[in-house]
Amino acid sequence: MSANIEEMERRRAAARLGGGEKRIAAQHSKGKLTARERVEVLLDDGSFEELDTYVEHDCVDFGMAEQRIPGDGVVTGSGTINGRLVYVFSQDFTVFGGSLSKRHAEKICKVMDTALKVGAPVIGLNDSGGARIQEGVASLGGYAEVFQRNVLASGVVPQLSLIMGPCAGGAVYSPAMTDFIFMVKDSSYMFVTGPEVVKTVTNEVVTQEELGGAVTHTTKTSVADLALENDIETLLAARELMGFLPASNQSDLPVLPTDDPWDRMEESLDTLIPDNANQPYDMHEVIAKTVDEGTFFEIQPAHAANIITGFGRVEGRPVGIVANQPMVLAGVLDINASKKAARFVRFCDAFSIPIVTLVDVPGFLPGTAQEHNGIIKHGAKLLFAYAEATVPKITIITRKAYGGAYDVMASKHLRGDLNYAWPTAEIAVMGAKGAVEIIFRSQRGDADAIAEKTKEYEDRFANPFVAAQRGYIDEVIYPHSTRKRIALGLRKLRTKQLENPWKKHDNLPL
Ligand code: HXC
Repeated sequence: MSANIEEMERRRAAARLGGGEKRIAAQHSKGKLTARERVEVLLDDGSFEELDTYVEHDCVDFGMAEQRIPGDGVVTGSGTINGRLVYVFSQDFTVFGGSLSKRHAEKICKVMDTALKVGAPVIGLNDSGGARIQEGVASLGGYAEVFQRNVLASGVVPQLSLIMGPCAGGAVYSPAMTDFIFMVKDSSYMFVTGPEVVKTVTNEVVTQEELGGAVTHTTKTSVADLALENDIETLLAARELMGFLPASNQSDLPVLPTDDPWDRMEESLDTLIPDNANQPYDMHEVIAKTVDEGTFFEIQPAHAANIITGFGRVEGRPVGIVANQPMVLAGVLDINASKKAARFVRFCDAFSIPIVTLVDVPGFLPGTAQEHNGIIKHGAKLLFAYAEATVPKITIITRKAYGGAYDVMASKHLRGDLNYAWPTAEIAVMGAKGAVEIIFRSQRGDADAIAEKTKEYEDRFANPFVAAQRGYIDEVIYPHSTRKRIALGLRKLRTKQLENPWKKHDNLPL
């Protein structure tokens, strides 16, 4: 072997060793994989092509001139997931704590620029102590270069962040601007200021996990979409999600072969809706019985569970599903549910993923907590998202569609393409009891009269036919035929053409 090749191999081996055996062992002892091990799990076997292996920092302050490690704390390159190209950067905590230097940032930017040029997703694996303290402002500049690219790539290529260690300070804002964030339980955290600063400033005592761990961010804050048990589960979940997404906003959706018949009948759906309108049932059952092989990839399952969002497939093609969940808060729309679903609808629209909406909604949640925290503005986000979406939109009303929430949930009036209702649908301004108490306020004391009027209101409005007579519902369908109707609808809508008026951008009520 020539000396030149030996030199290359020596340098490659040095890069692969990162911060050295001791630090790799420390990483493993925390239950974490190394940056390269993670990339191996994430990508198809042998598909990873590393770039910028020999990049080193250019800092000479604080003794850094003598401490250079090839790669400079981030492994970058490209590979495939189920044969489809993705670009990856994976921060190496064994090298200066994965901290971000100017050169480290340049490596990330190069990957992002290339992904944007060719139209492929970017997956970032975050495990970093933040700004490279020895570099100061050069590091801050590096972050901002990454932020800028996150924004330009938004809506052009899917961006996924996997938080697999520390992610603190301003560093959180790069993942925050990507489409999805998955976090590893107990070994990852995200916060703008850590527990020590919090204690100094507000006197609050809080652990890292409570302040910004995976559970906090997937239940309370909704900063993250999924909390997974360990590195492997997180990486496999990323692979699964990628299977639903196009490579870019210009690419076709990925199609998977399926043996599930497109016209599979689900007789059990005919009896799913309980006789008592106040009794819940599990909307997950409708979803599972509708999508191919019952496979549903749920986004934010632990936050605002009164609305369900996630991806499934019909005839092998991805669909985004938004569904009210009667099991949680009767499926009401509140601030969190509106924000969660609005973001999901906008993602689907940006990447041409058709949206199937399953509706059973008693309205918006009343109360001072909701009003004072801005349900008007936040509810408007979902309305806005549905109204601006130009992808195929198929809506099925299973039971309640009351009030403004009827309008919001992909109604015909918001350019729903196919609006179906089950015979059990009740489409009205509000529930019969509330309606009668308002219209017949003077007869409130007369229980018999109120009961009679309630029955009259129910008979008149607690059905889908008043809306169907007006063409607001395209057809009242057998519940058992839901999958078939959706499959046919999606087929026919594949060539849908619809454009919004030209604008620089809209002014979503943020
Ligand atoms: C340089 C760093 C570093 C950093 C860690 N290291 N963070 N080097 N810059 N930001 C180095 C350590 O010196 C150590 O080197 C190795 O990484 C591992 O760190 P440990 O502290 O031993 O690990 P651990 O105990 O697991 O603690 C991890 C940690 C802690 C909680 C992340 O390292 C830490 O608090 N780091 C500083 C975090 C921080 O304040 N960052 C700046 C935030 S401001 P050796 O050689 O001993 O292995 C910021 C602004 C971004 O990020 C703004 C964007 C707009």
